[in-house]
This record gives sequence, structure tokens and C-alpha cells, in this order.
Amino acid sequence: MRIDILTIFPAIFDSFLGESLLKKGIDAGIIDIQTHDIRSYTEDKHKRVDDEPYGGGAGMVMTPQPLADAIEGVIEKREVKKILLTPGGKPFRQADAVRLSKEENLLFICGRYEGVDQRVSDLYVDEEISIGDFVLNGGEVAAMAITEAVFRLLPGAVGKEESVERESFAENLLEHPHYTRPDDFRGEKVPDILLSGHHAKIEEWRKERSISKTTDVRPDLLVRAAEEKKWDVAFSLALIHYPVTGKSGETITGSVTTLDVHDLARIGKTYGARAVYAVTPVEDQRRVVERIREHWMEGDVLREIDGRRTEALDIMKVVPSIEAMSADAKRSSKKKIRILATSAVEKPESLSADEWLASVKQDEEWIVLFGTAYGLAPELLEMADALLKPIEGGGEFNHLPVRGASAIISDWLFGKNRRYSI
Ligand code: 6GU
Repeated sequence: MRIDILTIFPAIFDSFLGESLLKKGIDAGIIDIQTHDIRSYTEDKHKRVDDEPYGGGAGMVMTPQPLADAIEGVIEKREVKKILLTPGGKPFRQADAVRLSKEENLLFICGRYEGVDQRVSDLYVDEEISIGDFVLNGGEVAAMAITEAVFRLLPGAVGKEESVERESFAENLLEHPHYTRPDDFRGEKVPDILLSGHHAKIEEWRKERSISKTTDVRPDLLVRAAEEKKWDVAFSLALIHYPVTGKSGETITGSVTTLDVHDLARIGKTYGARAVYAVTPVEDQRRVVERIREHWMEGDVLREIDGRRTEALDIMKVVPSIEAMSADAKRSSKKKIRILATSAVEKPESLSADEWLASVKQDEEWIVLFGTAYGLAPELLEMADALLKPIEGGGEFNHLPVRGASAIISDWLFGKNRRYSI
């Protein structure tokens, strides 16, 4: 890769290019970086490169002639991506570093003073980039920041390729905390889990910490992480009749209602569930569900969609227990089965829809459990791989019907027009 930098202060770049990994990269021929003094292109007899703004106002504007001649002189006949560094540009992100790292030639134009004559931008510039919502005296520091971000993505620039892929922003999440020796530093201990040698648990801990840190300091990133999931999350829904909680907190078996069964199937079908499970240990009730299913699967009630005869109840599965449901899911899906519990009560580990979505992996299928009666029994909340935050209406009364709750939560998690709430 070759980068050319146009600046009125080329000396600013001397130590930046003469030290550290960047110098090694230059010496190794991974990158060629040339700075050019804009002033050496001016035709003004006083060597000026700025003038007063038309229309009046404070500050000076960089005149077009030296910049235009510098750009033309430097790029010659090459294909070059020409970038103007200005606080008015598009915010620079890791995705832009990845994109620019695939270019062969980049040209950075460092603005100074109040700005650059607009015609330079109109005639020559492919992109205007800013490195954040603050104002620098000129684009030089921004050019260095972008150069470094791009350089370290080039093959051979940084020791371990994996450390580049796994770091902050690769998934729109901030990194988990890092620790090294000693395990006790001035009374501050390294978390036990990191010393346990249990790799799967360590991964889980790192993911959790990465998500909670992102929620705390960069909720905007979490929303983006959820929005940028390019694939649809694989999922099923489950209507649980046992074990659920009764009125006074005891564990009971809820009764199957035909409306619940039918509506859960329609909700699941609408949002793209692989299956909707009705879970009840009561054999008579399973038979009732099977009857409803068969009724709706018979010829005259089937709906025509794209010439295919279909019905929401074709995804309904009736099983006696959570274990039977998991076993069926494992047989029917190639993905790793994970359980997401829902509850009207928030716990410290409860995740927002965005937190959950940000953490979902493509090789997983999630079964979302909805409890009938007064909600899922505590042991189900315990065994689940994740717990979702409750729906909050804002009032005292908090007892949505399970069909209503499952519709809202399906839309949070799988809806195409879902609103993102942290
Ligand atoms: Cl690219 N230039 C200047 N002058 N200020 C900035 C910036 C660029 N990005 C953020 N602030």
C-alpha cells in the first residue's frame, strides 16, 4: 500500500513514521508513506496558502490552487482514493479502516485554518473523514490516526492476525478486561475464572464482560451490533405449562388453552420460528393440543400462500417436558440449542433485547420460553442460558397475557421494524 499525505507541516510526521511498528512496516516494504508540503506548490509570491473567506467571517480558508496542484502532482496518473480530513467529514470507524486497508493508494489531504475551499473537495475529493466530534487545529493528527488504523490491518503488519480480528469494534463490542501476572496486585485479584483453565467458561465470562461494558459506556455500539446482524437468528418458541409458578409462588402445572396454542403458533410462524413447542406433562392436554393441530391441518382450513397450502399450526410440536423439547430440538436443528427464559421480574443477569441480540452467534438456535400462569418456575430461570428483561408497561399492574407478552418479545427479538431499547 502507498499513502501520500498533503500537509503544510510535513515535519509533524517525522517521528510518527520513524518509530515502532510503522517504521518496521515501512522498512519491510509493507507500506510506503510519503509526505508532501502543500506550500511548495503555491504560485503566490509570498508563499501563502490561505486567504479570507468570501462572505466574511472569522478565520482563513485554504486556497484551491496549491492544493489542486499538489493533488494532481502527487497522484500523477495513478488510481488513488483521495480523502480530505476535516471535522465536517463522516466519522471514521473500524469498518472504514478495514475498507481503506483494501485500497492500493490513499491520499490524505490535511485541512488547516477554518477549512478548505469547497471546490477542492468538489473537484478532487472522494471522501471527507473526521476522527470524532471535537476540533483539531488541522487534519495531521487525524491522518496519523487513520494511517495507523489502516496499516495494522495490512498482512504482516501486526504479529498475530487473531489479535486484530478479535479486538474492540470487530463486533461492535468493547473488549473484555485483560489481566496478566501477578495474580494479586496491591490487593486487587485477577478474577478466579481466568485462572480456572476452563476455556468455555472463560469465553462466556469474556463475552458477558464485553457486553456489560458496552452497555455502560457505549450503548450506541450495542444498538449497532444488533442492527448489523446480517443473518436471521435461528429460534423456536415454547409455551411452558410445567414447571410454572402459581398465585402464591408454588410450582404448578398450568392448563392448556386453545387460544394460547393457536396464537403462539401464529406468532411463531409470523416471525420465522422453526418450531413452537407446547410443553405439558398432562397427557389429556397434549391430546387436546394434537386435536387442535389436526383440525387446522386438515384441507379446508389451510391457507394458500404462494401457491402452497400452509397453516401456522404446522410448526406446533407437543411435548411432555423441557427435556423432551430439548431432545427434539437437537434432532431437528443443526445448531447448538440455547434456552432464553422470559420473566416479569428483573434479575441482575437479565439482558435487554439488544444485549441478547449482540451476543447471539450464528451457530446457535435459541428457544424462547414463555410461562403460563404466573410465569416460569425459578428452576427454569436458573437452567436457562440467558434471561430476558421484562416488558415494562410503567404501571403497578404487571401481568400481561402470555400471548401478548410472546408477541411483544418476538417483535423485540426478531421483528424487522423492532425498536432498540437499552
Ligand atoms: Cl479530520 N480534522 C480536524 N481539523 N479536526 C478534527 C478532525 C479532523 N476529526 C475530528 N476533529
